[in-house]
Amino acid sequence: MALAEFLEDLDELADAAVAAFAAATDPKTLESARIEFLGAKKGRLKTVQKKMGQVDKTDRPAAGKHFNQLKQRIDQAFAAARARLDQGASPARQSKKEPFDPTLPGMSVTLGRRHPITQTIEELKEIMGRLGFHVADGPEIEDAWHNFEALNIPPEHPARDPLENFYLSVAGSNDEPMLLRSQTSTVQIRVMEHTPPPVRIISLGRVYRPDTADATHYPMFHQMEGLLIDTRVTMADLKSVLRMFATSYLGGDVHIRFRPSFFPFTEPSVEVDYQWNDQWIEFGGAGMVDPNVLEAVGYDPEQVTGFAFGLGVERLCMRRHNITDIREFYKNDVRFLHQF
Ligand code: DAH
Repeated sequence: MALAEFLEDLDELADAAVAAFAAATDPKTLESARIEFLGAKKGRLKTVQKKMGQVDKTDRPAAGKHFNQLKQRIDQAFAAARARLDQGASPARQSKKEPFDPTLPGMSVTLGRRHPITQTIEELKEIMGRLGFHVADGPEIEDAWHNFEALNIPPEHPARDPLENFYLSVAGSNDEPMLLRSQTSTVQIRVMEHTPPPVRIISLGRVYRPDTADATHYPMFHQMEGLLIDTRVTMADLKSVLRMFATSYLGGDVHIRFRPSFFPFTEPSVEVDYQWNDQWIEFGGAGMVDPNVLEAVGYDPEQVTGFAFGLGVERLCMRRHNITDIREFYKNDVRFLHQF
């Protein structure tokens, strides 16, 4: 077969294909044109391609080159036709043809919402605000003074064990290690260092502990710390505040229980339990601020006393909404988050 003949067939075919694609006014016609010209088995382009074997050997490279060029042209024409039809299907294009109908339902916009823990934090701030507590903030990366020493936790205390904490290799030094704070009690110290008594603050934020995640543990969680320093503060004040807080957040019928306990920074210390499904569940710790802590920040324990508490925010939110697995908060599954 002569080269000229082959090229002629090719050109004719390309013209026909381009014209067919351009003439298509709906996806169906375009698809049948595609099958006619570009079909993998019996397409007309395929048929011409097969003829290439009959072209004289010396002319074959030229034939191949021309074939590729035309194939490209046909492919482009097809892509352009498809883009044109796709665009025609869009609402923008339709609205040009059809008059605007204001009675049609609009396009709904899906609004996001704040994370349940963020919502809880906002609500806790609001409740404690009504009881006269201001919000204080502290850093999540802490030094040993604020996380331990000033809180009366000596170097040999097990709470300082590297296995119980996230010490940071990128910050601090061997002499002055830094860590992700393991409790928000750090903020008590930071506030008292800068504020003369009386003090009445809460601090809400993240704390970190190398716990294995399960239904009630997560290596990162949130606490609400509270601190009240004044003259003649008693444990009755502490219990009243925690009870008022609980009835505001959890409902009027919630019961509160103190269990004797130990924390280095309070004396005496208690665990705070609230009732949940007829069971006593621990929500945090509390106590009267230890005189050593008051001294560490330069207060005079003969002049002022106070109470402190630390409650788990996730647990409060879980009790309120009957959530039974803390991991749900951090899976980022919108089907869960959407419910709050
Ligand atoms: N920081 C304690 C913890 O993380 C909780 C706590 C207990 C905070 C007693 C306090 C307190 O302020 O007085 O386990």
